[in-house]
Amino acid sequence: TKPFTVLGIESSCDDTGAAVLRSDGVILGESLASQSEIHEEFGGIVPGLAKTAHEEKIDSVVNEAIARAGLNSVADVDAIGVTVGPGLEICLRVGCNKARELAMEHKKPFVSVHHLEAHILMARLPFDDKNAKFNVGGTEEVHESKRTVQFPFLALLVSGGHCQLMKCLGIGRYEIIGGTIDDSLGEAFDKTARLLGLPVGGGGGPAVEKLAKEGDPKAVELPIPLQKRKDCDFSYAGLKTAVRMKTEKIAAERGLDSVDDLSHEDKANIASSFQNVAIKHIEQRLKRTMDMLENEDGGIRSLAVVGGVAANQELRRRLEAICESRNEPWEMMVPPPRLCTDQGAMAAWAAIERIVVGSTDIPDNQEVYARFP
Ligand code: KG4
Ligand code: ZN
Repeated sequence: TKPFTVLGIESSCDDTGAAVLRSDGVILGESLASQSEIHEEFGGIVPGLAKTAHEEKIDSVVNEAIARAGLNSVADVDAIGVTVGPGLEICLRVGCNKARELAMEHKKPFVSVHHLEAHILMARLPFDDKNAKFNVGGTEEVHESKRTVQFPFLALLVSGGHCQLMKCLGIGRYEIIGGTIDDSLGEAFDKTARLLGLPVGGGGGPAVEKLAKEGDPKAVELPIPLQKRKDCDFSYAGLKTAVRMKTEKIAAERGLDSVDDLSHEDKANIASSFQNVAIKHIEQRLKRTMDMLENEDGGIRSLAVVGGVAANQELRRRLEAICESRNEPWEMMVPPPRLCTDQGAMAAWAAIERIVVGSTDIPDNQEVYARFP
């Protein structure tokens, strides 16, 4: 098929993103407005403020992505894709309405995108993970190799909203193997960041990861979640509570009034120990899933690690080691860090994948879905 271009728009949470991608996966131009400074002050995302920020930024973000792609207007793209759920309803609506307007005005094919499928499909965007060159300003990028994960594969989706293991069979065809019974892994990172007084705007994960590098992962004893449940589900609420209690205990032992007064070393040890146990839980669940899949006919041997927390280098390193240690080695794909977290390219690429299989939508009455099974 002849290459085509898609404008993708993403506004499900606190990032306003737009990107123009070509159907072979080349990112022609992109733009992202982060709201981290707005939400930093409140220690979390305030939906009303997020919606207002999306409204203020949407036009300039779309125009910037178009300009960086070297195009004159939206009339020059071949189709439009937009995230319609799951996410914050009032935020999703900003992106969805913009995409609907543009699709109707310019009479372009329209594709509604599922945010979780878009995270997963980023592992199928052709790129060279060892030597990736990504476009940030309009010049066409060169892909030195095009290694991508092929269906069927196993996806570990770890984000702020989700924590799931899924069998990925094809576009729109996913089977959940395990999910979280309470908090997601991203939430656990964010709450640990808040507890330790680290920056949390735009997610506390990167700050915890950075601090953890300076600490001892065995310094603070924490329970690995769900030891009694021999399934593939996750739980992070108990770990979150354990981290808080241990932190308060250490502060009391040091004779401090508040955990804020803990030394840098203590905080680094807590961050490192938390991250270690949080990843141990993932490792155990992943190994059990791999045992199961390896026993199936035509068993899956590819793992895609996706979602915001997949940007974590320690998680990547440890899951890579598991893939290599299996009797029959697994291949692992992780998008580059900046494509793990929310941005516009994910909406454009998911739309391209759906267009390729002949699946598009009608923009006129497109709804958004806070929950989207
Ligand atoms: O996928 P994402 O951008 O938004 C959702 O769809 O939820 O994921 C955001 C989550 C946040 O919880 C953030 O703290 C976490 O991903 N995150 C990280 C890292 N980068 C982002 N967690 C751990 N280590 C990181 N380097
Ligand atoms: Zn996301």
